[in-house]
Amino acid sequence: MADNSVATPSLIELKNYAPPPYLVDLVDLTFKLDPATTEVKARLSMQRNPAGQGGPLRLEGRKLDLKSINLNGKDLAEGVDYTRDAEALTILNPPADGRIVINSVVEIHPDKNSELEGLYVSSNNFCTQCEAQGFRKITYFPDRPDVMARYTVTLIAPTDYPVLLSNGNKIGEGDLGDGTHFARWEDPFPKPSYLFALVAGTLTATRDSFTTRSGRKVALEIWTVAVDADKTDYAMDSLKRSMTWDEEVYGLEYDLDTFMIVAVSDFNMGAMENKGLNVFNTKYVLARPDTATDGDYQGIEAVIAHEYFHNWTGNRVTCRDWFQLSLKEGLTVFRDQEFSSDMNSAAVKRISDVRGLRAVQFPEDAGPMAHPVRPASYIEINNFYTPTVYNKGAEVVRMYQTLLGKDGFRKGMDLYFQRHDGQAVTCDDFRAAMADANGADLSQFERWYDQAGTPTVEVSQEWDAGAGVLSLTFKQSCAASPGQSEKRPYHIPFALGLIGTDGADLPVRLENEGPVDAGTRVLDLREASQTFRFTGFKDRPTPSLLRGFSAPVKLVSDLKADDLAFLAAHDSDSFARWEAGQTLAAQHLLQLAADWRAGRVLTLSPAVVEAMRLTLVDKSLDQAFIALSLALPAESYLAELVSEIDIEAIVEARNFARRTLGAELQKELRAAYQAGKSDEAFAPTADQAGKRALKNAALDLLCAAGDAQALDEAAAQYRAQANMTDVLAALGCLVDTDRRDRVEALADFEKRWKHDTLVMDKWFTLQALSRRSDTLAEVRKLLSHPSFDAKNPNKLRSLVGAFTSGNRQYFHAGDGSGYRFLAEQVVATDKVNKQLAARLVLPLGPWRRFDKQRQDLMRAALEQIKGTEGLSKDVYEIVSKSLG
Ligand code: ARG
Ligand code: ZN
Repeated sequence: MADNSVATPSLIELKNYAPPPYLVDLVDLTFKLDPATTEVKARLSMQRNPAGQGGPLRLEGRKLDLKSINLNGKDLAEGVDYTRDAEALTILNPPADGRIVINSVVEIHPDKNSELEGLYVSSNNFCTQCEAQGFRKITYFPDRPDVMARYTVTLIAPTDYPVLLSNGNKIGEGDLGDGTHFARWEDPFPKPSYLFALVAGTLTATRDSFTTRSGRKVALEIWTVAVDADKTDYAMDSLKRSMTWDEEVYGLEYDLDTFMIVAVSDFNMGAMENKGLNVFNTKYVLARPDTATDGDYQGIEAVIAHEYFHNWTGNRVTCRDWFQLSLKEGLTVFRDQEFSSDMNSAAVKRISDVRGLRAVQFPEDAGPMAHPVRPASYIEINNFYTPTVYNKGAEVVRMYQTLLGKDGFRKGMDLYFQRHDGQAVTCDDFRAAMADANGADLSQFERWYDQAGTPTVEVSQEWDAGAGVLSLTFKQSCAASPGQSEKRPYHIPFALGLIGTDGADLPVRLENEGPVDAGTRVLDLREASQTFRFTGFKDRPTPSLLRGFSAPVKLVSDLKADDLAFLAAHDSDSFARWEAGQTLAAQHLLQLAADWRAGRVLTLSPAVVEAMRLTLVDKSLDQAFIALSLALPAESYLAELVSEIDIEAIVEARNFARRTLGAELQKELRAAYQAGKSDEAFAPTADQAGKRALKNAALDLLCAAGDAQALDEAAAQYRAQANMTDVLAALGCLVDTDRRDRVEALADFEKRWKHDTLVMDKWFTLQALSRRSDTLAEVRKLLSHPSFDAKNPNKLRSLVGAFTSGNRQYFHAGDGSGYRFLAEQVVATDKVNKQLAARLVLPLGPWRRFDKQRQDLMRAALEQIKGTEGLSKDVYEIVSKSLG
C-alpha cells in the first residue's frame, strides 16, 4: 500500500475540542538544508498548560526520520519513555511541573516531497507550506493553532543557495567556511506553527519601502526567480495600497521591519500568510501587460491584499482550532473584497463576487459536501478550505456590517482586537465582540455558522390600491443537508427599495411610522414567515429586492417579467439592476431548455433581447457593468435552479441564446466593439479593464453567432498582440471554430510562450474549454505536451481541472468518457499530491441531480476511485461523502 493511505480514517469533531495539555513558549530550529536529506534540530521550551487536563505529551510528526530525542538533557528510549506511530510521538510520563526542554533531531527529504506540504523543493529552491498541518512534516511538535510560540530559526545551506529567509527579522548571517553559510532569524511575535516558513535558494528581490502612519519604515521585498523580476510591479503597488487601506479603514499598521513575499511555481493553493514571509503561487504575483489579463491583475491585487490583511485577521488574532477556519478566512476575504471594491468599481466587484458565489458555493451547499461555515467534523482539514468557509464566510461577515452599519462594524473590529490580540479564538468570540460593541442581540445570528445549505427567501406582494399600502410577506426556509434534516430560521438582513412609476426610489415607510427618506432600507428577518406593510403610495410601487445581495440566500419572488424588465432599466441599486436582467434571462433560459428537450422550435424572447439592447446602448452605465449584464447566467447557476439537471438541454439552450443574441444585436454589438478599440497604452485600471471587457464581450457574442466579419476581427485582434487580455479574448473566440486561423493562432501562442510556464497555463485552459467535439481527445493529447507537468498544481488545474469543472458539455458527455477521464486522473494524482487529487473529485459530487444514465456513470467513476488500493484519506473523504 502507498504510504499516504489510511485503514479507517477517523472523524475529528468540534465537540471533542480540549485545550492543549502543554504549551510551548520558545522554539529554536536549526536546518541543515540539503534537497535529498535535510537535518532539522528542534529545541522546544514547554510547560504544562494550567488550563489543560494533563496527560501524556503528544508531539505530531509525519514521515520524519527520528535521529534523537531528549528531555531536560536526558535521552529518551522508544517503548520505554515514548511511543511512536505514523502520526505522532507520545512522551509517556513527562515531568508534572516545571519547564520541559525537548531537543530532537530528525531528517526529512524535501526533493521527494511531491505533496507540496511541509518543506519541499520548487525550481531548485526550498520552500514550505505549513497550513494547516504541514509543520508536523518538518519536526515533532504540538501542531495545533492554539499553541502559540516565539521562534528563532537558523538556516544552514551550501553557498549556492545564496538567499536564506524565515519569519521575522534577520539577526545574524555569515560564511561557515566549509562551502556553507547561515542566516539566523527571530520572530518577536508568538505564532501558531502553521505560520512558520522558510525559503532558501537563488532568488532576486524587487525592493521598495513603506512608512507606516506612526512613522516606522518597513522594507518591502518581493522574491522571484531572476527571469520573473520584471513582473512584480503590480504586486508591489498592490501591497503598498493594501497597507495604506488597512491603516485608513481599520487603523491597523504593519508590525515588523520587513515584509517579504516569495513567488513559487509549485503551490497547492493561492498563497499563504506566513508571518512576515508570505509565500505565493506565481499566478498571484507575476504580471506584465503582455503576459497577464485584467482578470489576472485583479486576482493579484485581491490576493496580495488578502495575505497582507491576514497579518491582523489570522496572525495577530488566530484560530483556536481548525473548525474556526472561517474566523480568519471569511473575515479576510470580506476585507479583501472591500479593498478591491474601494480600489475599483464597487458595483462591478459586488456583482462579480456574487456571480462567483452562485457558481461555486451554492452548488457546494446543495451537494454531498455541504457543510456549515463552521464545520462540526472533518476527516481531512485540507478538504475544508472551501467556497463555503471562504466565500459564504465572507458573506456572513458582510451581514454584520449590513446589520450594524459601517461604524458599528468598525467598533466591533476594534473591540475584537482589544480583547483578543495575541490569542487563538473562536467564531463565537468574534460574534460576541460585534454584539457587545454595539449593544446588539446577535444570538440568532449563530445559525449562519452552524447550519449548512443556502436558505430560500420567498417574497410575495399584496397591493391595496384603496389604502395605498403594499404588503410584503417574507417566507424563509432551508433544505436539509447531510446530517441536518431540520433548519431553524436565520437572522437575515434583507435590503429593500421601493420604486415609483418614474423609476425613482420612494421612501420605504412602515405603517405607523413617521416620515423616512427615499432609498434602501434593511429589514431584519428572524422568523419563518413575516409580513411588513408599507404605506404612502399613490401608485403601486415596484419592489427592488435583496439590494446589494444583502444575504447569501436564494430569492424567489412573484415579480413578473415586466417588473424585472422595469428594474433592469431603472433600479438605482446596481446589483439589483443587474440581478433583474439575470433573473429575466435565467427564467427564459430554463424555458428554452425545456423547449429543446421537448423538441420544440427555440425562439429567443423579444423581452430578453430588448432588455439587453437597452443596457448595451445606455451611455450612463459603466462599461464593465454592461459587460457583466451581457454575460448570460452560468450553466452551474442555471443547474442550481432546477431539481433534475438536464445538462444537454441547459448547454443547448444557453448556446442557442448566445448565438441568437449575437445575431439580433449585431448592429449594437459591432458599434460597442468598434467604440472599445483604443490605442491607449495598457494600464490595469478599472476604467480600461471595463472598456476591454465590454469590447471583448461584444466580440464574443458576435463570434458565437458565427459572424465571419467578427471572426476576422478576432484573428486580427490576436495578431495585433496589444495585451494579454485582448489576445486571450480573441483566441477564445477562434478556439471554438474550425478556421485555419485557429490552428495558426494556437501554434503562434505556443511558440511565443513555451518558456513562460504561467502563460502556457492559459493555452492549456483555452483548449480544455473549447466547444469543439474533439475536446477530450485534444486534452488527452495535451497531457503529453512538453510544457505539461502533472506534478505541478497550476498545470493540472489548467488542463484537467479546467476540463472537468469548466467544460460541462464534454465532461458530462452521455457516454461517460468525461467521468472515466476524471477517475483516471484522480487515481494518478493521488499518488503524487493528495490535496490536489481530492479537489479533482468534486465535479462528480452532485451525481444524484442528473438523469439516470449519468447517475450510473458518475457513481461508477466514484466507485472506481473508492476501490483503488492505498487511497489517501483526502480523496477517501470526498469520495465516500459523495457516494453517501
Ligand atoms: N491561509 C491561506 C489563505 O487563504 C490558504 C492556505 C491553505 N492551504 C492548505 N493547504 N489548505 O490565504
Ligand atoms: Zn486566507
